Amino acid sequence: MTDTRYILAIDQGTTSSRAIVFDENGRSVSVAQQEFPQHFPNSGWVEHDPEDLWSTVVAVCKEALARVDIKQVAAIGITNQRETTVVWDRKTGKAIYNAIVWQDRRTASLCHDLKKGDPKLEEAVNAKSGLLIDPYFSATKVAWILDHVSGARARAEQGDLAFGTVDSFLLWRLTGGKSHATDATNAARTNLFNIRENAWDDTLCKIFRVPQTMLPEVKDCAADFGVTDADLFGAEIPVLGMAGDQQAAAFGQCCFEPGDIKSTYGTGCFVILNTGEEAVTSRHRLLTTVGYRLNGKTSYAIEGAIFVAGAAVQWLRDGLGIIKSAAETEGLAKSLEDNHGVYLVPAFTGLGAPYWDPDARGAIFGLTRDTGPREFVRAALESVCYQTFDLFEAMAADGVSPKAVRVDGGMVANDWLCQMLSDVLGISVERPEVTETTALGAAYLAGLQAGIYRDLDHISANWHLDASFEPKIEAARRDGLLAGWKNAVGRVQTDPN
Ligand code: G3P
Repeated sequence: MTDTRYILAIDQGTTSSRAIVFDENGRSVSVAQQEFPQHFPNSGWVEHDPEDLWSTVVAVCKEALARVDIKQVAAIGITNQRETTVVWDRKTGKAIYNAIVWQDRRTASLCHDLKKGDPKLEEAVNAKSGLLIDPYFSATKVAWILDHVSGARARAEQGDLAFGTVDSFLLWRLTGGKSHATDATNAARTNLFNIRENAWDDTLCKIFRVPQTMLPEVKDCAADFGVTDADLFGAEIPVLGMAGDQQAAAFGQCCFEPGDIKSTYGTGCFVILNTGEEAVTSRHRLLTTVGYRLNGKTSYAIEGAIFVAGAAVQWLRDGLGIIKSAAETEGLAKSLEDNHGVYLVPAFTGLGAPYWDPDARGAIFGLTRDTGPREFVRAALESVCYQTFDLFEAMAADGVSPKAVRVDGGMVANDWLCQMLSDVLGISVERPEVTETTALGAAYLAGLQAGIYRDLDHISANWHLDASFEPKIEAARRDGLLAGWKNAVGRVQTDPN
């Protein structure tokens, strides 16, 4: 009898680092997780200490690996919060500035200036990168570091500094500085990568003033990324898979056919629609991105990105203190027969798709003397559904109207939320048995490269439905709720498109 082979998935997210060991059937056999501090040095700024990212990743890997025989661990897959930017010294491996997180809005004025300087620039950038000019993406964050850390730009031009999204920074550290690489999905979030030509783009690098000497090599999502330093975990383990967390979730949800669509509810909410070999350009401010790249062949996707979903529940708990745990929200929302006209627009870090308004800020509308914690909770959960509706509405305007969506992420354990989502979207909401799809996707990619999985059909056989939610709401009530939301969101916009 052959021993089971395991795959270690590293999921470095916005608020925590996780390590999950999966068996060949995609079942998790060991999990470890650690949160790390968030830094908000200025209004709209969000930073992480790269040493926290690294030390929590090492700690959770050690903890998860301690419960299995390391000799049976065939591979590592890495998935990560995307766009978050690290610049480090190639000699010392030390970052020269904190990681600037995807939510950070400090480069909003730089983006405004670029767009004002040339009204056609955004279209030209979009044609190459599939993205828009927004502080969300890595390019302006790299430029900011080079412009604000003394001597950094000159050192970057001389080749002394390396840039990477978090995947790349972790890979560098895991391989003892031997591998400076990323994968096509993470590269596609920088605004420096030409998703049609599959290469870093000279013009984009010039527009955003990022020297190409800093950039990592871009590989397929299933590839040989290097081996871990033997001293780290007691054995060399090959890193064979990599993808940004949302693309990894789509892979873990087995969205392999054009038209397949998933929506993940983590810190933010990200909808990814597989468009196959075609890089489709949205006419309604959704993003075009790389879904995955295998054997040099790209499967493209349309993406809708919302910055605050689970973060709204975190705010109820940590900011307002009106709940003790996220699990309480289901009962509280359900205890009201309707929302009592209260709408929360959680634009805490601006609005993402389809509004792209970095200067918008959050607001709550419809308060009366009897508004209490339950209305706040319900409004926060409803806002997640309405924001998802906005993405589906933009997709419909682009000519795509899915009949069902696969959901995952921490929030979808909440049945009330899934039902509300189905009511608001007017389509089936399908929840799989395994909702840890981000880590699972990274494990599948590494497992493909390790030869544990033959092909995508082999992986698809592991997907099982847990529950399906169907629309139940009356049309007039749904229209009324959506009208209330549209009114609220319109009132926080600073820059109506
Ligand atoms: O683009 C940002 C995204 O990758 C962060 O994901 O899981 O922290 O909401 P999450």
